[in-house]
Amino acid sequence: MNVVVFGAGYVGLVTGAVLAELEHHVTLIDVDPSKVAMINQAQPPIFEYGLENLLQRVRQSGMLEASMDPSQAVQNADIIFIAVGTPPLPDGAPNLDYVHQAAMTIGQHLGENRTYVIVNKATVPIGSANLVEMWIDDGFVQKWGHPIPEGVFTVASNPEFLREGTAIHDTLYPDRIVLGADHAWALERLIDLYQPILDQTFEPPGDLPRPLGIQRIPLITTDRLSAEMIKYAANAFLSTKISFANEMANICERVGADITTVMQGIGLDTRIGSKFLNAGIGWGGSCFGKDLAALIYTAKEYGYEPALLESTQHVNIQQRKGVIKRLQEELKTLKGRRIALWGLAFKPGTDDLRDAPSLSVIQELLHLNARVIVYDPVAMDNMRKQYPHWDIRYASSALAAVDGAHALLVMTEWDVFRQIPLAEIMSRLDFPVIIDGRNIFDPQEASRLGIRYRGIGR
Ligand SMILES: NC(=O)c1ccc[n+]([C@@H]2O[C@H](COP(=O)([O-])OP(=O)(O)OC[C@H]3O[C@@H](n4cnc5c(N)ncnc54)[C@H](O)[C@@H]3O)[C@@H](O)[C@H]2O)c1
Repeated sequence: MNVVVFGAGYVGLVTGAVLAELEHHVTLIDVDPSKVAMINQAQPPIFEYGLENLLQRVRQSGMLEASMDPSQAVQNADIIFIAVGTPPLPDGAPNLDYVHQAAMTIGQHLGENRTYVIVNKATVPIGSANLVEMWIDDGFVQKWGHPIPEGVFTVASNPEFLREGTAIHDTLYPDRIVLGADHAWALERLIDLYQPILDQTFEPPGDLPRPLGIQRIPLITTDRLSAEMIKYAANAFLSTKISFANEMANICERVGADITTVMQGIGLDTRIGSKFLNAGIGWGGSCFGKDLAALIYTAKEYGYEPALLESTQHVNIQQRKGVIKRLQEELKTLKGRRIALWGLAFKPGTDDLRDAPSLSVIQELLHLNARVIVYDPVAMDNMRKQYPHWDIRYASSALAAVDGAHALLVMTEWDVFRQIPLAEIMSRLDFPVIIDGRNIFDPQEASRLGIRYRGIGR
């Protein structure tokens, strides 16, 4: 099939590359010329496991190309994905400007003698399928002066659930595929597109073998509103699970219990499940905060007060503030203190800094006049580019960051950090203080070594 993907970011690029690997002809359209050039040279503009190999294969096979010019590709497309960003506005509503632009552009280039399925893959507010339909029609009218003939296109919803760091794996072996469509022909076309994934009939890439036991991927077909709602409900539930673990951690800390054992104890209950129960400095990233805020906004638009969702948000904000509070309890003044900070990315396996807890902690440390020395295995380039005016030092390694520091803050649970012996850290710190925001170290060992160790909820 001929597939066009608007937006070659974390979602669009991975989706496009995987569909090209499944032998669909894919054109990625992006407004960023440097991204387009890099992709065409088979160089991933983002850090994502397996992406470089995958891009090389699909560029070599000729199944994927990137372009800034949508005209030909859109006209000849069978399916067009909209995977542009939907960042939050200050009031919590998602900014739909990029979706609007993409939809208008699509409308300007549709032909009258084909049928098109246009798919919202970006996370868009409930009801956006109708909106995108209207914008596509606006684009067509702008170009041709009359409305698009009935039946030429329809908009479907296919929310994305991939996780950065395991994005290709999640696209090849998803927990489920959700398709919301109002027309049977659109649904059939989308099922055809995904058939090799649904039936798991493709040859797995060498670096991403098929997990044992996966035979068929569950498919949910529904109306467009429910599909859009599934995405928001999933992210709201996941962020609530983490905020719940964090609230339990705060109580554990006060009564003297250990959150890691407590969560293990509840997670073994199959009704609860063990995933997403790690206490820490809270969730971040490009999706949870934005999607939760958008759902709260939507609920209020309809006169409903979503108390649980607002508490999930509140607990997360407090959790981030707790890092500085713990540091102040240990060091008192932070003025002029050298604070080593391990991990900038919002989670391991990615270079994405969007809404990373490290950002708010660094900002507060700078505000309190501390000297901040950071290390992250992959996100430092993005940090330099996105925050060039922040007065922070970049270390050449995790241990170099700790040399002579008055405290170490662990912000991201990269595996390389877990492997560093506490004794080695202790020997380099000026003051033996570790605030372990991700509970990666053993508190008992830390205490044996004389470290003033503060985890979360233990
Ligand atoms: N990142 C994730 O883990 C993830 C997971 C699930 C869903 N989502 C959702 O997917 C959407 C995209 O997220 P992302 O992380 O890939 O964003 P991103 O910022 O990485 O990528 C968006 C891309 O769209 C491009 N773009 C903007 N306007 C355009 C236009 N008019 N035409 C063509 N390209 C345009 C940008 O240049 C950018 O490359 C968002 O709605 C997000 O909520 C993201």
